[in-house]
Amino acid sequence: MLVKYKKSFEKIAMGLLSFMPDAKEVKTLQSIIHSYENDDNWKLFLWKEEDVLGAIGTRFEDDKIIVQHISVTPSHRNQGIGKQMVLQLKDQFGDQYFVCPNENTEDFFQYSLAKE
Ligand SMILES: CC(C)(COP(=O)(O)OP(=O)(O)OC[C@H]1O[C@@H](n2cnc3c(N)ncnc32)[C@H](O)[C@@H]1OP(=O)(O)O)[C@@H](O)C(=O)NCCC(=O)NCCS
Repeated sequence: MLVKYKKSFEKIAMGLLSFMPDAKEVKTLQSIIHSYENDDNWKLFLWKEEDVLGAIGTRFEDDKIIVQHISVTPSHRNQGIGKQMVLQLKDQFGDQYFVCPNENTEDFFQYSLAKE
């Protein structure tokens, strides 16, 4: 299930975000996690089973939620977790917000919705 990020998940969240093409540099990654921790409009959600297996990072902007990051731990890919994160986010917020990707998440986002 999707849970809200909290500081105790910082290391695992940074590991997951580091798989995003825009977060390869350590400084960039630190600045991204800083924004998720401190900017009220940036909200990070984690996919938690027994362990944390995925992350979906968003920015709330007026009536939109922009999906900026989607990542699943390599050992658990291709089991539908990525798609479930996108669909649960839409389930939770889709009535109030238009949920859309940015250029970094567009390919997988569209793929997830096509497979809905
Ligand atoms: C993209 C990612 C989150 C998918 O997570 P996942 O849990 O493996 O996804 P699902 O199991 O729900 O779906 C797997 C499908 O997504 C497809 N897929 C993987 N990456 C994709 C991408 N960048 N664009 C489009 N489709 C993609 C796979 O080919 C697979 O297709 P199939 O079911 O037809 O074989 C994961 O591969 C990842 O963490 N990648 C590194 C981070 C990244 O690049 N994120 C941005 C992607 S735009």
